[in-house]
Order: sequence, then C-alpha cells, then structure tokens
Amino acid sequence: MIYLDHNSTSPIDPRVVETITTTLKEGYLNPASQHRAGQRARKQLETLRNSTLKMLGAQTQGMSADTLLFTSGGTESNNLALLGLAAQSVASSDNKGPGEVFISSIEHPSVVGAAQALSRQGFVVVNLPVDQNGVVSVEALGQRLAQSAHPVLVSVMMANNETGVIQPIREIADLCKNTDVLLHTDAVQWVGKLPIDFGQLGVDAMSFTAHKLQGPRGVGGLLLRHGLTVEPILFGGFQQMAMRPGTEDVALVAGMEHALRIANEDNDRAARMSQRRDRLEKELFDLQPNMVINGQQAARLPHTSNLSFPGIDRQAFLLAADMNDLAVSTGSACASGSSEPSPVLMAMKLSDDIVRGSIRLSLGPTTTDAEIDQAVIRINRIVENLLP
Ligand SMILES: Cc1ncc(COP(=O)(O)O)c(C=O)c1O
Repeated sequence: MIYLDHNSTSPIDPRVVETITTTLKEGYLNPASQHRAGQRARKQLETLRNSTLKMLGAQTQGMSADTLLFTSGGTESNNLALLGLAAQSVASSDNKGPGEVFISSIEHPSVVGAAQALSRQGFVVVNLPVDQNGVVSVEALGQRLAQSAHPVLVSVMMANNETGVIQPIREIADLCKNTDVLLHTDAVQWVGKLPIDFGQLGVDAMSFTAHKLQGPRGVGGLLLRHGLTVEPILFGGFQQMAMRPGTEDVALVAGMEHALRIANEDNDRAARMSQRRDRLEKELFDLQPNMVINGQQAARLPHTSNLSFPGIDRQAFLLAADMNDLAVSTGSACASGSSEPSPVLMAMKLSDDIVRGSIRLSLGPTTTDAEIDQAVIRINRIVENLLP
C-alpha cells in the first residue's frame, strides 16, 4: 500500500511508540494525586509541557509565560478555542452580550461546527471569502471588522488541510491587534511540517494535534498567549487550571513531545517532502496535461497536493485507488464518506468539473522516491481508465 494520506493521519514514528511504551511502563500515576507517585507524574508532565512550549516558540518564564492546555486533539482544541474564548468575551464585556465571530470559509469542520454552535448561542458568525487560490482575503476581514459593532474573535487556519494553501496569518494578526480582537489559528497541518514561532506569529491562541506529525492519536494542545484564559467546555476537576479538566495522560503527552522533537531536528523534512511533491505533480502533469493543481499560485505546505482531473469522478477515483493499493482522499477525513462536494474547493469558486474530479495527495517525511514513482504510474492508469 502506498500511503499518500498523511493529512488525514500519519503513521506513528517507531521511536515515539518506544517513548510511549517506556513511559507507560514507568508507571506514571495520576498527576493530580497528592502522594509522591502523583508528584512524580506532575513533575514529568510539567517538564514535557515546558519542552513542548519551547519547541513551539512560546514563552515559558515569568510574567509573559504562555499557557499550553493538553487536549484530546485538534477537534477539541478548536472547540475549546472558539467556544471558550467567545464565552470569555461575554463574561468580560460589560453586558454587551454575544458579539461577532469571524471565520474563513475554508476552515476545518471542527471550527465550522464550533462556530455553528456559537451562532445558536446568539453570536453572529461571519464567513470570510477566499480567492481562487484559496487564500483568505485580508481586505475583506479589514472591512468586516471596521463595520462590526462588537467583534470578539477571528479564527483563520495557518494552512488548509485540503489544498495546503498557507494563509496570511501575520497580516491578519496585525489587523486583529489594531482592532483589539482576539485571533485563533488552527495550526494542525502546519506544526511538524514547517518551523513555528508562536511568539513571532502574533496570534492569541493556536491549536495543534500529535497524530498529524507521526505522534499518537488522541492528544493535542491549545496554546494561549500569556494572560489569556478560556471558559471551559468540560466541567469537573481543577486540572489545567480548570480550563481543561480531566486526568492528563503522561504517556500520550510524552509521545507528542517526542514527535515534535523529531520533527524539529529533521532539518530537511520540508525540502524533502516538497521536492517529492513537486516531482509527483510535474510527472503527472506531463502525462495528463488537463490536470489542474488547485491552489498552485499560492504558497503551499510542502507535502500537500490537491489535483483535479476534469472528466473523472472523485469517488470512482477513490475506489479504484484503493483497489490499486493507493491510499489517498478527496478532502477532510472528517467529511469523507459523504459524497458532498468539498466546501473548500467550492469556496474557491472552482468549476463543477474541477470540484468533481479533485483528489488530495499528502506525503509524509517517510514517503520515498520509489513510492512517488509508483504513485505516478498508478494514478495515471486510474485516470486513463476513468476518463470517458
Ligand atoms: C486543519 C485541521 N484541523 C483540525 C483537525 C482535527 O484534528 P483531530 O483529528 O486531532 O481532532 C484536522 C484533522 O483532520 C485538520 O486537518
């Protein structure tokens, strides 16, 4: 099986499995317990938290220390960011009530769903348009913010999971700072692929998850700029300052920290993946000149390729690919299984033919040249068979 679906999840690195197993065997108990065994777990958890914060470019010391909440993954981090920051704005807004929340029209379903929940609570959700390459319009955000009576939160992803298109977060951060509105970014597809510096980025909150970077599934994080708090969406204990109660899993956190460390030390990871991704695109284009690379004119993540073959049906392609031992997808795994057209490509206003015939290929750090060679042969064969 050639696995080109790393954006859906990435196979865990064997070194990370080793770390998780060792940590489990070391028998860390409940970090919230008062006894020595609990204190030992707490110390280990806090060491891992500090190391993770540092690797993400966040502050760990003194008054300006940023906060890292461990969560169950990207979906929870995004929900906690949107629901928790929006609720916080109501709590601190002198009876102004629910305000306006701005999200881009290419966000992951976990952001879209959380925004829908906010609209049911009385918040007004504004969808920001993207251009034909899938880049969010900073100008539209500026105009909408200027018109807004009570803006509370902007959420725009670092890079899109379907196209890999990188978003202008630094510019958006400047805009949000000038307008005094909080900015959250979903960095799930970015972290582990390209360098990240939370301090420099200028965002207030950032979501990430371990399983997109060869870490374990079921653990992720929400980074909060120093001084910022969220209202909880889960209730119970006092863990993680009661913002995210629940017993922390030291072994999963250790696995995530190790996966991040491996990614940080793998200096040519991005170059390796983009060189293979670019070759895959070029060789396929030479064979299928009608092929369209969606988002090609924009800056993209190094490992993601969204291709359209006009005249073919993406669901038929998926089935044929599976029969040919090629794992690819048609978009967000959270939306797969549905044959609905991709909301991301629809937001880019691409033609029906392009949307209908689109597939997503996503490479990982372990993808080899031989796999790319084989993928080109298999994809070309499938397309030839499916074309009318
Ligand atoms: C951009 C983006 N955000 C959030 C998520 C959800 O992350 P998780 O699977 O850890 O809940 C995904 C996963 O597909 C994603 O691609």
